[in-house]
Amino acid sequence: MTDSKTLRIAVLGSGSGSNMQAILDAINDRALNCEITCVISDVEDAYILERAAKNNLPARHISGDPFKTKLEGDAEAKYISAIRDSGATVVVLAGFMRIIKQGMLDAFPNAILNIHPSILPAFPGVESWKQALEYGCKVAGVTVHFVDGGTDTGPIIVQRTVEVRDDDTPESLHARIQEQEHIAYPEALSLLAADGIKVEGRVVRRA
Ligand code: GRF
Repeated sequence: MTDSKTLRIAVLGSGSGSNMQAILDAINDRALNCEITCVISDVEDAYILERAAKNNLPARHISGDPFKTKLEGDAEAKYISAIRDSGATVVVLAGFMRIIKQGMLDAFPNAILNIHPSILPAFPGVESWKQALEYGCKVAGVTVHFVDGGTDTGPIIVQRTVEVRDDDTPESLHARIQEQEHIAYPEALSLLAADGIKVEGRVVRRA
């Protein structure tokens, strides 16, 4: 970690926050040179906010209304202000269930990351582990990528695979994918913190 700078990140999530926890654990283990400057959820009672509070992280709910599936308009402006005020330079989407629109992309250019539970470009969108199982895939996994204007289409930073077993259910497969998510996100952030990647078009290379 000698030539690594402290990466200041805002974590956005709508659910349990297990990825936020994995990132925090890596920070506390000194495996990741990062500071979580704020945790924001569009879901008032999301467990990610409780986890953040338990760990003394600044946490707040900001509504995404009146939209249900995207972040735009006044709500988007509030998110941008809160993230900037916290001092974060990187935005980490960790189970944030809204589509990021141009305003946010312009506010944090090439600095928004997402985690998606499939080996992209296979199975973008929702419940991708279920899609992989129903398709009959023998391998599934997880992707950490930069966010661009599409849905789960941005340059890929890290991917990790899991084997699909004959007796897998959507739940058992998702659980094994999540184990890999908790390795993949800290790994991607470490690369970013260490200036260890360069983006050439849509290809991310180790610098
Ligand atoms: C993860 O499965 C992630 O891949 C997806 O949303 C889920 C978030 O889980 N984008 P958690 O809230 O981090 O536990």
